[in-house]
Amino acid sequence: RDAYSIAVIGGDGIGPEVVAEGLKVLDAVVGEAGPKIATTEYDLGARRWHATGETLPDSVLEELRGHDAILLGAIGDPSVPSGVLERGVLLPLRFALDHFVNLRPARLFPGVASPLDVARVAPDGIDFVVVREGTEGPYTGNGGALRVGTPHEIATEVSVNTRFGVERVVRDAFARAQARPRKHLTLVHKHNVLTHAGHLWRRTVEEVAAEFPEVETAYQHVDAATIFMVTDPGRFDVIVTDNLFGDIITDIAAAIAGGIGLAASGNINPARTTPSMFEPVHGSAPDIAGQGKADPTAAILSVAMLLEHLGHPAEAARVESAVAADLAERGTTVRSTSAVGEEIAARL
Ligand code: IPM
Ligand code: MN
Repeated sequence: RDAYSIAVIGGDGIGPEVVAEGLKVLDAVVGEAGPKIATTEYDLGARRWHATGETLPDSVLEELRGHDAILLGAIGDPSVPSGVLERGVLLPLRFALDHFVNLRPARLFPGVASPLDVARVAPDGIDFVVVREGTEGPYTGNGGALRVGTPHEIATEVSVNTRFGVERVVRDAFARAQARPRKHLTLVHKHNVLTHAGHLWRRTVEEVAAEFPEVETAYQHVDAATIFMVTDPGRFDVIVTDNLFGDIITDIAAAIAGGIGLAASGNINPARTTPSMFEPVHGSAPDIAGQGKADPTAAILSVAMLLEHLGHPAEAARVESAVAADLAERGTTVRSTSAVGEEIAARL
């Protein structure tokens, strides 16, 4: 394909600032010769909610479905009650567009500082990818509260795990492991306590493993996985896990791989029946919004993931190389959001 339409949702806080730099880099990498990219901005998040009370109107969702991909900045703002935008905008997008693979690579680029003594714990560096399930688990909103505000209050959040949902994400993770040099897949769960869901995940991994005889599998309880992630991250290649465990361990993964300012992600529908959505792992960082301080690198690397998904691996690799070169040169220099975007764009 040589023409695409991309929906752009800047969202809240630093979201619009980092997305602007992502688009700058996208423009630079496709240049004159590359595919034609048309972008359409959608106003979702705190501003819209305050002005209209709307989170994600059906009409907007339908329009979003018509694009080839979505680039999102961040959703969430302290001026809106907790959960309203998360449950009203971000999660409905992931659910409605069936983004069952939440792909979160963790790679320590040369020259980037890690809080770990990387040479000791991971002589070959940190290079793994978390395949986080994106449509089930405790995120579905099943549960409720009784006798709220009384001493007898009861709150439940039910984790939903379907054979269909687990199997499709596990199969995707196996395929990703199969395509990587090490061909190693770790299931992260907590089957010693979450016996129902845990056993479903474990059994599914065992069964799907038969389709991928070259892939070696391992299992870790999530608590132990957090230890190994900071003491021996080199043991990980591909990790598959549920929605909530995946949320938590990908923040640790981001921290050890140079910080949340560098962590990119893709909310992917591998069946391609809907647009996939690419976003930095970080949030809206309201404390630094509007000051040009946010690091747009995660948004720029999310653009690389978007290009890869659209079938432009060469362009994706060029963005990654430009980021790698910039990171190697950047050191500890403090640069503005737009300066980072310009430096990276200038390398393309
Ligand atoms: C993330 C975020 C979201 C999540 C929130 C904002 C709903 O933390 O993308 O990791 O929990 O998935
Ligand atoms: Mn998170």
